[in-house]
Amino acid sequence: MARVEVTVDGVKYVDEVEPRTLLVYYLRDHLGKIGTVVGCDTSNCGACTVHMSGPDGVERAVKSCSVLAVQADGRTVTTVEGLAGPDGILHPVQRAFHEQHGLQCGYCTPGMIMASVDLLRENPDPTDDQIREGISGNLCRCTGYQNIVRAVHAAAEEMAATGTAPVEEAPAFNMAVADTPAVQPPAPAEVAP
Ligand code: FES
Ligand code: FES
Repeated sequence: MARVEVTVDGVKYVDEVEPRTLLVYYLRDHLGKIGTVVGCDTSNCGACTVHMSGPDGVERAVKSCSVLAVQADGRTVTTVEGLAGPDGILHPVQRAFHEQHGLQCGYCTPGMIMASVDLLRENPDPTDDQIREGISGNLCRCTGYQNIVRAVHAAAEEMAATGTAPVEEAPAFNMAVADTPAVQPPAPAEVAP
């Protein structure tokens, strides 16, 4: 087992994990962050995209099925569950996806939103082509992408109008160290005789 100390959505966790554990499964199975989903497990679809800090401390989009949990040691990670403010107000990108109908089944949406936020961090006013390139690592089988592009534009406009930064510079809330036993599966439902 290997020790990993990582701050996820503003909360610091210290855990022992198998060295082969992928970050996406650490997030889902150990921390219960099931908003981050697995679409392909082969780093193709982007559904598992989260933000992870690099050596420079800046968080960038990564496909969490292509990162080992131990590689997140000492880093910060933001999942789609950590985007909304502590008061529950949705991030402008989350709101825009909702308002512009940027999703249908919603399976790609967590990763698509995280990729879009990272795109807007780098380029606050992207063109259509730049948006399509920015989300090119994320596959959507439902929408045809048009409303996703529209949503990213709408979020960019709102953030420019309100002076909102795409991401916080540092986790702003609840830095308490959490003990994180593995998430227990729900008890099986009772079956009537
Ligand atoms: Fe990670 Fe598809 S599940 S890229
Ligand atoms: Fe269904 Fe994108 S909304 S895969």
